[in-house]
Amino acid sequence: MAQNIIHLVNVSKNYNGTEALRNINLYIRKNEFLTLLGPSGCGKTTTLRIIGGFEAPDGGEVLFNGVNITSVPPYKRRVNTVFQKYALFPHLNVFENIAFGLKIKKMDKKLIAEKVHNILGLVNLSGFEQREIDSLSGGQQQRVAIARALVNEPEVLLLDEPLGALDLKLRQEMQIELKNMQQRLGITFVYVTHDQEEALSMSDTIVVMKEGSIQQIGSPIDIYNEPKNSFVADFIGESNIVSGIMLRDYLVKFAETTFECVDHGFKENEPVDVVIRPEDIQVVPAAESKLQGEVSAVTFKGVHYEMIVQNNSTRWKIQSTAMAPVGAKVGLQILPEAIHIMKKVTVK
Ligand SMILES: Nc1ncnc2c1ncn2[C@@H]1O[C@H](COP(=O)(O)OP(=O)(O)OP(=O)(O)O)[C@@H](O)[C@H]1O
Ligand SMILES: [Mg+2]
Repeated sequence: MAQNIIHLVNVSKNYNGTEALRNINLYIRKNEFLTLLGPSGCGKTTTLRIIGGFEAPDGGEVLFNGVNITSVPPYKRRVNTVFQKYALFPHLNVFENIAFGLKIKKMDKKLIAEKVHNILGLVNLSGFEQREIDSLSGGQQQRVAIARALVNEPEVLLLDEPLGALDLKLRQEMQIELKNMQQRLGITFVYVTHDQEEALSMSDTIVVMKEGSIQQIGSPIDIYNEPKNSFVADFIGESNIVSGIMLRDYLVKFAETTFECVDHGFKENEPVDVVIRPEDIQVVPAAESKLQGEVSAVTFKGVHYEMIVQNNSTRWKIQSTAMAPVGAKVGLQILPEAIHIMKKVTVK
């Protein structure tokens, strides 16, 4: 079992009455790629700033290798940060920006040049040493910011939406590149994004946050397949979420129709949220299914079609490589394993 390098214990943070973080308990293992995921304002940046030491929690403690570092200033933590708004030095060129931390450490000039050269290769900016920061695109600046943090070989790297400004293709390339670097260099990454695909494809562990609270912690597969509540299910992927009644173990009713499912342990007739992924609904001839509807929209998405099927009360989003045209009356087939039953989220 890998050791915990960072441990947040009961961390809370208040900004003039706004509870930015409520009782956060989280440990991060050595060499782990952990992602904080959640909508804007949920407290991701605040969590990173507390780990980095740029913000002090109002309550709770931050432990680093078991030692309380809550009051240790940022520059004394073995942590580096790539900020959401990359703070490069505009009066220094690319080389000088990246070399800055190494020069402060009084590292040998030749070694600095070699390290900067290597790191520029890693972020796909070979030959950019002498470029002025102003002359770079947003994406290039962001990669300089990543290089500048990586070159210090920190034990922990905090990254706040580091790929946010890049176009899709470059973002996907950088996702793979960052993940490779993280594994090769053996650095612990604490990564912030509000992009669930990015979180799913890069992370060992995902922490889903909402309004300053942790909703679920788990592997990408766990979070995707076994979301704890409808908020996580909705946020982590496109989902159909409908209200239902758990009639008894293994039997649920939604959309005026009774379905077998694989869940149990609910009260008889307990109201629940039912979550079904768009790719888990099959379109079949109307006569072959107890749930029917009419196709109201079809969009070609490249790999698959996305169809909206309306039945009396419910609008279903379906992804399929087979297409039924708008106006078609179709049946919807949903297998027991595709039905995820969740406790109703209680309103605070
Ligand atoms: N310095 C501050 N002063 C006052 N309120 C703040 C401050 N920093 C953050 N907040 C508030 O704390 C909450 C959490 O903010 P935070 O920046 O951590 O969110 P986030 O999850 O990083 O969002 P985003 O995805 O938009 O970057 C928000 O309600 C925000 O307005
Ligand atoms: Mg933020």
